Amino acid sequence: MDPSSRIFGRSAELRRARERLAAAARGDGAVLAVVAEAGIGKTALLEAVVGEARERGWTVLSARGARLEGQLAFGVIVRLLARAARDAGVLEEAPEAARRLLDPRGGTVPDDDPFATLNAVFWVCLALADRGPLLLVVDDAHWADDASLRALAFVRERLDGLPVAVALGLRPGGAPVLGALADDARTERLALAPLGPAEGRRLVAQLAPQATDAQVDAALAATGGHPYYLVALADELAAVPSVAPEAVATLAPDGVVRLVLDRVTAAGEDAVAVARSVAVLGADAEVRHVAAHTGLSADAVTTAADALTAAHVLGPGRPLELAHAIVGAALLADLPAGQRAASHRRAAEVLRAAGAPPARAAQHLLATDPLGDPDVVEALLAGAAAARGPGDRETQVALLERALAEPPGDRRRVEVLTRLGIAERHLMRPGAREHLEAARALTTEPEAQVNLLFELAAVAELEGRMAEAIEWLEAGLARLDSDGADREARAVLAANAAASRLIGLVPVGDAVLTDLDARWADLAPGTPIARLVDAVQATVRGYRPGATVTQVAPYARRALGELVPRELVERPASLGLLPVAATLGLHEEVLDAVDPARTARETGSLWQTLAVTTWRAFAGLQAGRLAEAEAEALAAADGFGDDLPVGRAAAVAILALILVERRGAHAAAEALERLGEGPLAIPPVIQGLMARAARARVANALGDARTARAEAEALRDAMDGAFIEQPVHLPWRRELAIALRLEGDPAALELAVAHHELCVAFGAPAAVADALVVLGETAAADEREGRLREAVELAGTAGVPLVDARARLALGGHLRRSGRPGEAREPLLRALEIALECGALGLRATVQEELEACGVQPASGARDGTRGQLTPSELRTARLAADGLTNREIAQALFVTPKTVETHLRAAFRKLDLKSRRELAGALRQAA
Ligand SMILES: Nc1ncnc2c1ncn2[C@@H]1O[C@H](COP(=O)(O)OP(=O)(O)OP(=O)(O)O)[C@@H](O)[C@H]1O
Ligand SMILES: [Mg+2]
Repeated sequence: MDPSSRIFGRSAELRRARERLAAAARGDGAVLAVVAEAGIGKTALLEAVVGEARERGWTVLSARGARLEGQLAFGVIVRLLARAARDAGVLEEAPEAARRLLDPRGGTVPDDDPFATLNAVFWVCLALADRGPLLLVVDDAHWADDASLRALAFVRERLDGLPVAVALGLRPGGAPVLGALADDARTERLALAPLGPAEGRRLVAQLAPQATDAQVDAALAATGGHPYYLVALADELAAVPSVAPEAVATLAPDGVVRLVLDRVTAAGEDAVAVARSVAVLGADAEVRHVAAHTGLSADAVTTAADALTAAHVLGPGRPLELAHAIVGAALLADLPAGQRAASHRRAAEVLRAAGAPPARAAQHLLATDPLGDPDVVEALLAGAAAARGPGDRETQVALLERALAEPPGDRRRVEVLTRLGIAERHLMRPGAREHLEAARALTTEPEAQVNLLFELAAVAELEGRMAEAIEWLEAGLARLDSDGADREARAVLAANAAASRLIGLVPVGDAVLTDLDARWADLAPGTPIARLVDAVQATVRGYRPGATVTQVAPYARRALGELVPRELVERPASLGLLPVAATLGLHEEVLDAVDPARTARETGSLWQTLAVTTWRAFAGLQAGRLAEAEAEALAAADGFGDDLPVGRAAAVAILALILVERRGAHAAAEALERLGEGPLAIPPVIQGLMARAARARVANALGDARTARAEAEALRDAMDGAFIEQPVHLPWRRELAIALRLEGDPAALELAVAHHELCVAFGAPAAVADALVVLGETAAADEREGRLREAVELAGTAGVPLVDARARLALGGHLRRSGRPGEAREPLLRALEIALECGALGLRATVQEELEACGVQPASGARDGTRGQLTPSELRTARLAADGLTNREIAQALFVTPKTVETHLRAAFRKLDLKSRRELAGALRQAA
């Protein structure tokens, strides 16, 4: 077996060692010094060198320095040479001094004349080298006794012309004698660094073959590629294969603990306290924090820190930090749980007193035992209040749960419960409702009561219990109005109540809108609350029978300016504006106004981020950016999952509408299956109606007239009951007309006409163009062409490319069927172009079939379409993966769920035809 096959990396070092051995074999004697801190692999490398030497027929003698034997003169030399000298029978002829030193019967007595002993050692080496090249290996030379080192130096001076090599393994910073040997210009010095990522990966893969990429990455990160730690962690990983990547560093096995403690103890008296303090404090441990935490003086801390840095326990910089995460894990593993908790409690106190950010102090309290301490509750509340941004809602939940466990006194209990419930609501966690209700039962304070009503309503809305939401909001509003509370607070509640009615399919009367008008007039224009009221006005008006774009668009434009700024986080009502604005033809404005990454960053609200993602996908569909829209809709549908039927209904509906164009009706139908079965498949809210509309649309596309009719009729009945009308995205007449036409029912025409009239009245050109297509396809033969040409003309200017393509496809199809294939080509070719631009692969295929029926063979280039082409989201994800980020890190960086990352990566792998992450970087470069 190749002896070097057990070590990874180090090929450059091995090559240099080999060259030295070759030189020594030619009589150009050499010293090789492998220098590195503990555990970097000196011994491993020396073993590989020994293996190579033996294969080449060298005699190899080795010995190690031993920590407690430093005082024993010539100890190492004796261990190195005695047995070989005796076995080779060279002692008989050797000088007396050699026998005294090396003959075991003599009991290792060096000659009184030191020079005689050195000479004797050299004599023995010569005698042994007579039989062939000789390699003397002294590992752990930093612990070797000075006499032995002097003897080796003596030999080194006389190596010229001899086939003898000396190889040393040592940690840096040893005794002067050792320095003279190791740092000499003639010495080949191999300074080992930790393993690089590739070698580290291979090492872990060998020891823990089942470890996932994420676990391996975590192990590399925790150890910085330090082989000893890495080997130890990999062994643990092999034993505990299910450990979460975040927890890998904490596996700190016994061996590591011992090594770390050895080093720390060796660094001096205060070092243990300082190292532990740094480990407990975590990031950003300033010297003054450590001093306060340990009770040592700042000077003592600095001195200990220097020693710890020299021992590679701490890094060299300030603030103080551990050299490797695993060092911290080892230090903490050695600390009994009670002491550790106490140390964290003290850390929190120190950090608070030092004015550190509240969140930092609070983090420490998570690791302490509850003691009913009101100060702890205050610190946790302060930490939660300071936490913002993505992931911070999770932090808030953790801190507030801990505060609840402390437990807080009565005075603070309501606040803890309220804040916890709010954070949970944003994360869509089930505990939200329980905590908010508990808070509500405990308070009589009017403002808190109203706030809780508002939050409870938001939870109810999330879960699809609209009646409850409306009741709560209206109760809150009545209360505020009678209290004469401030205008803004009342406007917020009024707006939310109106939006909830609409979403909950409860008729919104004129009085509500007049009321909102009056409240708006009382607010300063352009402020967040005024914009919220505008948003709700646009939303409610956008669904009213008889609404027109001219009436509604001004509200929407005013609101859209700076949608969902941070102040609106707690006010979900504004989001309804987004789909409405898209129906008004303001889809580009919507795309400009919202950005899921920004929402995530500014609100830390998963719910809000998913909602924004959903509506962005809808606007993207209108704008004809299907690849991106598909990815967004998919992310939203995944994110809402099965527990939140309202969000899911909207996301799935939009996904299906996108897929009809992008991948065809079958893919869309498959996506609709995500709605599931049972009563919550179509929740009784506007979002549920969107799902119905999508089902009808997809059924029509599949030619399943029966289903389409049933869905369209159900949609109609629900809309009638709620007194709403929305010809663009809840177009029941359109779908019913198509279904009836498929069934050959003459009533189809009447509906198509009605739908067209409604769209004209509403005034959205794209919807009118689309209605003209339906009308053209339903109308009597002699009217068809006129209608379709009208549709094409209008669609060309309406700014909704897919309607444009559909209109041209319809016209082309009609012309071909009328026996004029030549005239059909022009509109069809344009439709093909648009479909390609939009990434509408399904639509493109239909257009292509039509073109082929007209006798046009599409150019081959047009056929392979987007194979190899990644969507922007896939590209972003793939790039980060190629940079070596784990799925979790990518998810954090892009504010999506890890599941979404997986989906994107899977798509990217498929499109680029790759098998592993490793091939990704190359493939991306090629594709660029
Ligand atoms: N390049 C490598 N490839 C694979 N395993 C390695 C490599 N280097 C070191 N190891 C493993 O890491 C552990 C520590 O290495 P080694 O004992 O050689 O370190 P060292 O530098 O000699 O440490 P010390 O100063 O404590 O003697 C061992 O289990 C060794 O097998
Ligand atoms: Mg070693």
